[in-house]
Amino acid sequence: MTMKKTALVVGATGVSGRALINYLDRQEDWSVIGLSRKPPYFETRARFVSVDLTNPESCQEGLSGLSEVTHVFYTAYVDNKVIAETRAPNARMFANFLPVIEKAAKNLQHVCLLQGTKYYGQYLGPFKTPAKETDPRISVPHFYYDQQDLLMAASEGKDWSWSAARPHVICGFALGNPLNLVATIAVYASLLREMGEPLGFPGKPGAFTSIYQATDADLLAKAMVWMSISPQCANEAFNITNGDFFRYQNMWPVFARHFGMQAGGVETMDVPSRMRGTDKLWDTMVEKYRLQRHPLSLLVNWDFANYAFSNDWDVMSDTTKCRKFGFLDFIDSEQMFLDQFSALQRDKIIP
Ligand SMILES: NC(=O)c1ccc[n+]([C@@H]2O[C@H](COP(=O)([O-])OP(=O)(O)OC[C@H]3O[C@@H](n4cnc5c(N)ncnc54)[C@H](OP(=O)(O)O)[C@@H]3O)[C@@H](O)[C@H]2O)c1
Repeated sequence: MTMKKTALVVGATGVSGRALINYLDRQEDWSVIGLSRKPPYFETRARFVSVDLTNPESCQEGLSGLSEVTHVFYTAYVDNKVIAETRAPNARMFANFLPVIEKAAKNLQHVCLLQGTKYYGQYLGPFKTPAKETDPRISVPHFYYDQQDLLMAASEGKDWSWSAARPHVICGFALGNPLNLVATIAVYASLLREMGEPLGFPGKPGAFTSIYQATDADLLAKAMVWMSISPQCANEAFNITNGDFFRYQNMWPVFARHFGMQAGGVETMDVPSRMRGTDKLWDTMVEKYRLQRHPLSLLVNWDFANYAFSNDWDVMSDTTKCRKFGFLDFIDSEQMFLDQFSALQRDKIIP
């Protein structure tokens, strides 16, 4: 008989946390506890605790009773337009969290940390591709390094192990945490179509032609659970992407076809400025197409669009390590985008 495990998904309502909860909900040998500040807006059998990780007292109050937790999946994240500004709050949240849960969870077995390709400096300019887990850290500080260092030090000599997943643009759906490429493209396309415009590519010309990659949120969830229960993955980091690569110049006409639009060329723009004032149009579209009543601000963050289409250099992770260690799943990225667009349409999030 398999032993029942208890997962604590930290960042339960985010794009990656929600996918983890959905995945674990379907596994009979897991109990699930979700943690974030706001309660989940989706159906789940997970128990929920509301904790503000920036507040040490809230951590004590919310975490010290969680003695049953065996596995932690840490996906909490606080964003800032200025990437350097994400360091201090995210490092602090993890530092507030880890010692308290370690003390509370008497049978802790594993802590799986969610990182990303920023670990390799992908956001700063051309970097060594494909990036390998063994590549040296870059000289610019990042909270990924702070969190991992803290985790490694805390686990030394203990009965529990750690792992780290490094995806690139996580594609799934989250309401109110809109760092989400699929919803960004889908809402952007829907608004342009409503305005009678073609689907232009808003990023830089080089971002249209460079090699890019993505990670399906469900695939990532499965990989993180695999990492947390596979003894060979203890104290290791893994690049987790769909396993293929693409260029937007080939993907964009496919997206346009899906939305029944004319594909435009590269129309480099500041997306927040271009989309200013579209909230009202969105509200009329909600009425017209009988969509779920979500304000635009819960679905998209146009600053994220600027970021997502700004890399005019190749972004490639080497995923041979996870395969060597036994994770063989992959996803066709084009199919993933089309399936997720269709799901947003089916669920009446977009027309
Ligand atoms: N999104 C991507 O495309 C992407 C790509 C590669 C790597 N990553 C990495 O993946 C990690 C997770 O990102 P994500 O995109 O899944 O994040 P996300 O969608 O923005 O979700 C963040 C989660 O953290 C929770 N949270 C934020 N502040 C909190 C606080 N003070 N106390 C408790 N919970 C808090 C949020 O819930 P509440 O607001 O309700 O508290 C939410 O559940 C980050 O390290 C990010 O760098 C993301």
